Amino acid sequence: MIDQKSLSDILYFRHACKLFDKDKKISKDDLNFILEAARLSPSSFGMEHWRFIVIKNQELKETLKPVCWNQPQITTCDALVAVVAKHKAVSTPVYYEAMFARRELDDDAMQAYVQRYENYIKALPSIKAWSQMQCYLAASNIMNYAAMIGVDSCPLEGFERDDAEKILNIDSSKESLALFVALGYRVNHQTSKHRLPFDEVVEFRE
Ligand SMILES: Cc1cc2nc3c(=O)[nH]c(=O)nc-3n(C[C@H](O)[C@H](O)[C@H](O)COP(=O)(O)O)c2cc1C
Repeated sequence: MIDQKSLSDILYFRHACKLFDKDKKISKDDLNFILEAARLSPSSFGMEHWRFIVIKNQELKETLKPVCWNQPQITTCDALVAVVAKHKAVSTPVYYEAMFARRELDDDAMQAYVQRYENYIKALPSIKAWSQMQCYLAASNIMNYAAMIGVDSCPLEGFERDDAEKILNIDSSKESLALFVALGYRVNHQTSKHRLPFDEVVEFRE
């Protein structure tokens, strides 16, 4: 187990890094470790609503920058991870049945799972939004596990979705770009953390 102080230090180390050192590269091993944390993230019904496009190509980052509010993180980071939500797949029987089949359920349990899942997604106001929500869990793991190994990150929602999806050849009838997570190493010291007080956001009912 990792002691609380070390974990707390990691929480404070992680911040939305606004400018990365262009010359510092993340090792392949570290990048894979971070992406593995993404892959192992929890998801509703275990549907793994995501895939990750890891953009290392500088030209592609430069092309994306104007549709990402010209944010410098896009072109200064070493790896720009596009977290893509697979809203079409998760509503397609061949996909979700295969995902449930991995659990090696008997026929009755399998049928019950599928039925519950189908009822659940039928009642959702938006399967696309639901899939994107799961992507945020993976993004959270990306940022926290990056911080654990001293890698900085910035989550980015500041982009024109249609334009960015076109650049990345994402078929928007099947998938959508949930968010980006830029990864690299900071140039500047992080600013202080601004958070509401613990007692204001945490309510115990004992
Ligand atoms: C989903 C999401 C999207 C964000 N999008 C951007 C962004 O486009 N550009 C940016 O500079 N920061 C972005 N941020 C960073 C937040 O502004 C930042 O996390 C927040 O102010 C708290 O600061 P901290 O992360 O440094 O503790 C985003 C954060 C989240 C969680």
